[in-house]
Amino acid sequence: MALLSGLDETGLTLRVRGRPGIQAALPLPADGSPVDVRTLWSGSTSTRDPAYCAFLSDLAAAAKAGQVTLEFPPFVTPVLEEPGAWNLIGDAAFAVEYPDAWDTLSESSPNHALKRFERRLYLSHLTSWLESLPNGADVLDVGGGIGRFSQEWLRRGYRTSLAEPNGGALALALGHLARQGGAFSLWQLAAESLTPFADERFHLVSAMEVLCYLSEPQRGFVEAARVLRHGGLFVASVESPVGSLEPGVKHSLDDITAAQSVTEQAREGDLWVRYFTAERLRAACESAGLVVETIIGTHYLTDGPLHHAVDVDRLGDVEYEDGLIGVEHVLAGSTRWASAARAWLVVARKP
Ligand SMILES: C[S@@+](CC[C@H](N)C(=O)[O-])C[C@H]1O[C@@H](n2cnc3c(N)ncnc32)[C@H](O)[C@@H]1O
Repeated sequence: MALLSGLDETGLTLRVRGRPGIQAALPLPADGSPVDVRTLWSGSTSTRDPAYCAFLSDLAAAAKAGQVTLEFPPFVTPVLEEPGAWNLIGDAAFAVEYPDAWDTLSESSPNHALKRFERRLYLSHLTSWLESLPNGADVLDVGGGIGRFSQEWLRRGYRTSLAEPNGGALALALGHLARQGGAFSLWQLAAESLTPFADERFHLVSAMEVLCYLSEPQRGFVEAARVLRHGGLFVASVESPVGSLEPGVKHSLDDITAAQSVTEQAREGDLWVRYFTAERLRAACESAGLVVETIIGTHYLTDGPLHHAVDVDRLGDVEYEDGLIGVEHVLAGSTRWASAARAWLVVARKP
């Protein structure tokens, strides 16, 4: 039960360690032993309290500056099997080499406008489905990364739990979610094993751009279905075989058709992807006991086969983005182009 206190909005559980030899502005043990975050703050520890959120945001900034390290429940680093583990190794190396590009929710990131646009694009397909959720819905964001979708779930007033195996991503997520404020908790967990969460716990489980990176994606679909309530919504996106085409190059429809037979990509110590067709995505959901409501092709333009048609410098201009989203919807519904999607988005329900 103690572990589940992290689900309580008044009990975000987190441990802080001072980095030996570095003076942080907090009363942390000099030997680097961990302390519970709640012992460092004398006021309310509700993440709905702006003062506590400001403190958490400062803590995340101290972690980013290398002054402290943060640990998240259940305080055991998940052991990922190869080849899925390679993605975390690749991400960690990228984060060290390109910290600004990695932290895409920071306005200074060169990828900020792109990632924010792509979130808008996903949401343009999801909004009508999300309307069925109750106020203050309990939501789990699996493989939530630095919080791109959790930020949106909080904005909508959902009680949001973000599960993510990468501790560095969780430390950044803390800052982004604290700036947003609301009922949230952060968990260092892999999608294959969400054991702190009881069966049928959540109204919504999101897994955006995650399950295709698991060594055995099906384990992630089954775990997501387990923690979902009956009648609850599952929303997820996965890469299509179009992701196997060389990026930044123009490809013909024939190239795209030929790529459909590619099932995976592996770069040892760096990257592993299992590509999904719409049919494979449907089968994965159904064999996890979910009923598919819709599968939608997405990312034809940015990061997709028609990337050359986008003026990336205009991302952030709402009218321009609305136009791109309109074109995306037309392509998703077109007989000729639908299967050229770079990613597939599924909406499913647990019966
Ligand atoms: C492309 S990012 C997407 C992050 C976030 N969902 C978003 O849309 O911004 C892929 C995420 O999947 C996470 N991931 C990789 N393997 C995982 C696993 N086995 N279980 C859960 N998450 C995993 C990565 O650490 C990373 O945060």
